[in-house]
Amino acid sequence: MKQLATTVLLVATLAIGSATAGAVFDRPCPTDIEAKLYFNVDAYLGKWYELQRYESEFELNYDCIQVRYGLNEDGSVSVSNSGYNLFNSSTTNALGRAVLSFPDEEILQGKLNVSFFGAPNDRSNYWVLETDYETYSLVWSCEPLEDERSEESFWLLSRTPTLTTDRDDLFRIQSIIRRYIDRRQIRFTQQLDSRCPEF
Ligand SMILES: *[C@@H]1O[C@H](CO)[C@@H](O)[C@H](O)[C@H]1NC(C)=O
Ligand SMILES: *[C@@H]1O[C@H](CO)[C@@H](O)[C@H](O)[C@H]1NC(C)=O
Repeated sequence: MKQLATTVLLVATLAIGSATAGAVFDRPCPTDIEAKLYFNVDAYLGKWYELQRYESEFELNYDCIQVRYGLNEDGSVSVSNSGYNLFNSSTTNALGRAVLSFPDEEILQGKLNVSFFGAPNDRSNYWVLETDYETYSLVWSCEPLEDERSEESFWLLSRTPTLTTDRDDLFRIQSIIRRYIDRRQIRFTQQLDSRCPEF
């Protein structure tokens, strides 16, 4: 009987765990967060290395994560996320598609609707808070949950496998993180391990 109870508890925990795509907060989604203005999609394309994130079920335990953004013929953005699990040597790859969330705005914001495996692009779930296109990008999003709770995603992307050492860039990155990101929830992505493949 005791064992059954343990099993039930474990199953329940897994079910809850698998429902999260990011960090859960006991408050509604913040409404005072601005995305990058005058966003330039073309300059954003190409390859990025993930250096930090809030852990999520999609990336659980994966490191060496590289993302590639390209242009599809219909003007949407192709998304290819690859990762490597340093514990069990498995690789993961997720193909997706992104569109600007609000393409008709006079001042284009760095908000995109990203979906994977052919799902509809019906969520503005990739907000570029700040980027210089050539060095770093800070990406965030928030989904409301029941009971005034919310679930946030966060990624720090970099054009290189290590973070820039440029002081002005670091200052900008740190000021965004300080303002919007819960540093205790950040997971650092291994990029320098010699087993990291080049995707
Ligand atoms: C490796 O671990 C990941 C996540 O923990 C899991 O999804 C995957 O199925 C595992 N792969 C193998 C080959 O065990
Ligand atoms: C993106 O998702 C939002 C909902 O979050 C929706 O209002 C908007 O129309 C979508 N944009 C596109 C281009 O599909």
